[in-house]
Amino acid sequence: MEKKKIIIQEPKGKLGVLIPGMGAVTTTFLAGLEAIRRGLYPAFGSLTQMGHIRLGRRDENRQPLIKDVIPLQDIDDIVCCGWDIFPDDCYQAAQRAGVLTHEQLESVKDYLSSIKPMPAVFDSRYVKKLDGPHVKSGRTWWDKYLMLEEDIKKFKEEHSIDRMVMIWCGSTEAYLDPAGVHHTLEAFEKGLQTGDNAISPSMVYAYTAIKNGIAFINGAPHLCNDAPALVQLAGEKGVPIGGKDFKTGQTLMKTIIAPGLKARLLGTSGWFSTNILGNRDGEVLDDPDSFKSKEVSKLSVLDTVLQPDLYPDLYGDLYHKVRINYYPPRGDNKEGWDNIDIFGWMGRQMQIKINFLCRDSILAAPLVLDLALFADLAQRANMGGIQEWLSFYFKSPITAESVYPEHDLFIQLTKLKNTLRYLIGEELITHLGIEYYNYFD
Ligand SMILES: NC(=O)c1ccc[n+]([C@@H]2O[C@H](COP(=O)([O-])OP(=O)(O)OC[C@H]3O[C@@H](n4cnc5c(N)ncnc54)[C@H](O)[C@@H]3O)[C@@H](O)[C@H]2O)c1
Repeated sequence: MEKKKIIIQEPKGKLGVLIPGMGAVTTTFLAGLEAIRRGLYPAFGSLTQMGHIRLGRRDENRQPLIKDVIPLQDIDDIVCCGWDIFPDDCYQAAQRAGVLTHEQLESVKDYLSSIKPMPAVFDSRYVKKLDGPHVKSGRTWWDKYLMLEEDIKKFKEEHSIDRMVMIWCGSTEAYLDPAGVHHTLEAFEKGLQTGDNAISPSMVYAYTAIKNGIAFINGAPHLCNDAPALVQLAGEKGVPIGGKDFKTGQTLMKTIIAPGLKARLLGTSGWFSTNILGNRDGEVLDDPDSFKSKEVSKLSVLDTVLQPDLYPDLYGDLYHKVRINYYPPRGDNKEGWDNIDIFGWMGRQMQIKINFLCRDSILAAPLVLDLALFADLAQRANMGGIQEWLSFYFKSPITAESVYPEHDLFIQLTKLKNTLRYLIGEELITHLGIEYYNYFD
């Protein structure tokens, strides 16, 4: 591909990270961010902080840290704020979430206690298992949009913020199919004014962000910034959007293992995934409407990786089942089991069992950091609209209508790194490697 000079504005000044939903993921992210800034831990799990990128030919041995060659915001100049339906400050919320140890929380207590959520735009019709007192009152969605705009303006002024990104880390909302009100911006804005039921609180946050030129990323699986009206707005305003549903835990494993099975043309007749978790997210997902959003997101992965239409003999009869069980004693420490029935040469059956004892928010927190930094990079590089190169981070990547999402983690990583190379005018890497041999001399 022809090299093109992309102009990327320098990451000067402060980056504001706005976070609707300050529960387990957010407080774990904030605690870690501050601990890393204080030099207490390396940024485990974060590609922007610990990842290297190969540049040029393999024999040049250029493998710098991504953050040394890509103009990313320095994490010391990130300022965070957010909204929640509970008024607890982030230290109290982190204690409640129970992800980090007492010592870890104490080491950043002053920082976490200083972040207090602003009252949320919320309606329990969209998250049936939750209700909280710390909410905005207004007649219509439009009134609440104006209030969010005011919150953002105040935050920007108070902290002398230069640029902002917004990342939804709030609860999973009930499943919604795109309806009339989502189809065009005009219909959506009318819906905001009339208080249309097909608009959910997260869409009001997304609209506010995009309208104000702030990149919006959705970490949950429900319909939000992927509603056509909001994609249209992002395109018109040149604002980056991305999502959806952070890829952690069981689905992360799935997108690591399934591409390997397909690469070796091993058939799969069944994939049963079940897990237990006892955090608030698990409680919210105990409601069938919220679970449906999650289920659709989790189920879509295998179909696109395995391509049963191209490989009917291998994957045409795959039975794929996903279960999530709310089990309070485990808190955030999820345990997942996968049973995979596979077959190989002459149809002989084999099984793979995975028992993943993971910590959900520990896996999600570094994604929040990377997404904030990459969304800001996209903003400064004038890359508006859907950021498919960030699919690496999502269970259900949002794509252009004309293409199917890429779920294979390794293709996603190649895509992400090639996008970074492209942005800084480096050769894309195809892994062909034929230039190191003399076959055709
Ligand atoms: N942890 C993971 O690995 C992971 C992976 C993929 C997706 N997610 C998604 O990330 C989101 C956050 O997960 P979590 O474990 O932190 O959940 P959590 O329940 O601990 O936190 C969510 C917070 O959002 C708040 N909230 C709900 N609706 C809100 C609104 N309209 N405005 C502001 N705040 C609101 C809740 O009060 C709660 O404090 C969930 O949607 C979850 O499905 C998490």
